[in-house]
Amino acid sequence: MDAVEAYVRDLFAIEDAALTRIRERHAALGLPEIYVSPEEGKLLHVLLRAVGARRVLEIGSLGGYSGVWLARALPDDGELISIESDPKHATAARNAFEAAGVAKNVTLLEGNAAELLPTLEPPFDAVFVDADKEPMATYFHEAMRLLAPGGLLLGDNGLLEGRVADPADGAADVEGVRAFNRLTASDPRLSATLVPIRDGLVVGVKTRA
Ligand code: SAH
Ligand code: DHB
Ligand code: MG
Repeated sequence: MDAVEAYVRDLFAIEDAALTRIRERHAALGLPEIYVSPEEGKLLHVLLRAVGARRVLEIGSLGGYSGVWLARALPDDGELISIESDPKHATAARNAFEAAGVAKNVTLLEGNAAELLPTLEPPFDAVFVDADKEPMATYFHEAMRLLAPGGLLLGDNGLLEGRVADPADGAADVEGVRAFNRLTASDPRLSATLVPIRDGLVVGVKTRA
């Protein structure tokens, strides 16, 4: 981590013991350490607060790290629905939500996002897409169906380590991210940008009707 990143983290994105513990659990359980950074987690939190989000969807819980940043932005009666297909990750995430004191506001749906998303009903105030990358165009369309007017479309890994900008890279994951980025950038229902934080956070706001 460079000095500027550390400066921002130490000033704006300080973890409490629960968040630090979640990262330590990933290492102890052998979960991939691919959660959002504290700065990105704080950005997600601030964006939810900016729109007064009450009902939020996350696709890709892993061990609950981003979910805790999201859930802590909600009001007392707010709800985070978080989807996770890997049973080991889902268990770790449930434990993390308990330990962080947000379990009453979180519903973890265990299963494949492709199957679960069509069962959900709008409205959501924000959707955070952070699961497998190949189906991201499908996740885009589901998120747009679920989002309320004024809702936030959030997508992680918009840069895919810079691979999106390498024309020689045509792998399925990078094509999935490119499709998500193109759809988000060009959809007339959205005002959007790609924030170059960590691996890139795509942020779009859906037009108010
Ligand atoms: N949002 C997390 C990181 C998610 S990593 C954080 O920042 O803390 C991506 C997660 O998506 C992994 O846990 C993986 O198991 C899950 N995943 C991958 N494909 C999926 C699918 N099709 N449906 C549901 N979850 C999926
Ligand atoms: C990977 C996936 C992510 O969602 C992420 O934020 C970082 C890395 C990966 O699959 O390597
Ligand atoms: Mg990610």
